[in-house]
Amino acid sequence: MRFKYVCNDCGNEYVSEEVMYTCPECAALATDANEFRRGNLVVRLDENDAKALSTKQDLSFYDFFPYQVPDKECFPIGETPIAYPKRLRERYGLPNLSIKLDSALPSGSFKDRASQLIAAQAIAHGENKIALASTGNAGAAMSCAGAAYGLEIVLFVPETAPVNKLMQSVLYGATVVPVKGSYDDAFALSIAYTERFGGINRNTAYNPMTVEGKKSVSIELFLQLGRKVPEVVYVPVGDGCIYAGVCKGFIDLHVAGLIDRIPQVVCVQSTRSNAIAQAWKTGSFTNVSATTRADSISVSSPANGRMAVRYINETDGWATEVTDAEILDAQMELASQAGIFVEPAAACAWAGIRKDADLLKKRYGNDVSVCVLLTGTGFKDMAVFEGRVSLPASIENSVDAVIARFS
Ligand SMILES: Cc1ncc(COP(=O)(O)O)c(C=O)c1O
Repeated sequence: MRFKYVCNDCGNEYVSEEVMYTCPECAALATDANEFRRGNLVVRLDENDAKALSTKQDLSFYDFFPYQVPDKECFPIGETPIAYPKRLRERYGLPNLSIKLDSALPSGSFKDRASQLIAAQAIAHGENKIALASTGNAGAAMSCAGAAYGLEIVLFVPETAPVNKLMQSVLYGATVVPVKGSYDDAFALSIAYTERFGGINRNTAYNPMTVEGKKSVSIELFLQLGRKVPEVVYVPVGDGCIYAGVCKGFIDLHVAGLIDRIPQVVCVQSTRSNAIAQAWKTGSFTNVSATTRADSISVSSPANGRMAVRYINETDGWATEVTDAEILDAQMELASQAGIFVEPAAACAWAGIRKDADLLKKRYGNDVSVCVLLTGTGFKDMAVFEGRVSLPASIENSVDAVIARFS
């Protein structure tokens, strides 16, 4: 599909055969170190090409991609299950609640969606090396795609990232570089690496194709629901790239003439990593000091913050903040009441619905159709249960011991 780049901040348009990361004009402006960065690019699809999709029969999200994805089957993305959680529906009085399980993707997180498109971008440009920074999941996802496509992955991560996510990347064959610093530090170092050693940089939001890859979830959801969209969608937010991707998918469907209204997309953040929620509320794009236990959404300076705030307003969405205690409680509830085991960052979105349940019913009626996007599997971070959940003591190998335990 033909496309151009549009700067999220100044609106300048660029057509380029080369890989583009940020708006050259906005990136050159001196920015206050305490503010969200500027100059992220939006990929705008050619309107005629998009409209031509409205009559296509066997539509797929790949039709909306700016790059052709080769050998899709070697790294299968999409068709993630939708759960209709009976007990949670009853408990919260939300009969049209659905849960999109992106934790079921190959590396166990939503980030696979962007990683496949970045792999396609690298292949299209004749590059075989991709560098990135990650809090853990994007790195594991890119490393997983790299293994599937035979690409070299160089991954910068804060040394505090959960060991399971790092081990995953090592196992997939990536070169992992733990950094004695924050995610934001790893982000800057990975860009310095690409500038010096070449290859494609996959940093979330810095590479506009990450938002493009992530938009696939909304198009897939639309197709899975029989060419319908929910009224409201809940998304867990750190950098704001998944959020922007979800909105962009709905916007592209709208441009194509396939839907006549864009769902409200709700940005859910931890109160201990709430830069985007606060920016939306106050209008000030100021960094925060992120300390949430939900490591994947712990971001002080959101890489896609300005675009996310713009999309919250454009989709008529809103931001909901939840405490870390509410996130961990939501994680337990999903496991025990729906059989769904996700990491804390993903559970943040469910915590948002729990908080907003009354508001949703008031605003949309009791039969509001609401979908929550669960973005990462729980197995990635078992350490979060230390001190909260323990295994029962063993019993002797005897029937008497069984009787004693249950009497
Ligand atoms: C499991 C999970 N959920 C949510 C997010 C938040 O995505 P974003 O940083 O694009 O806001 C991430 C990001 O790493 C993630 O790994």
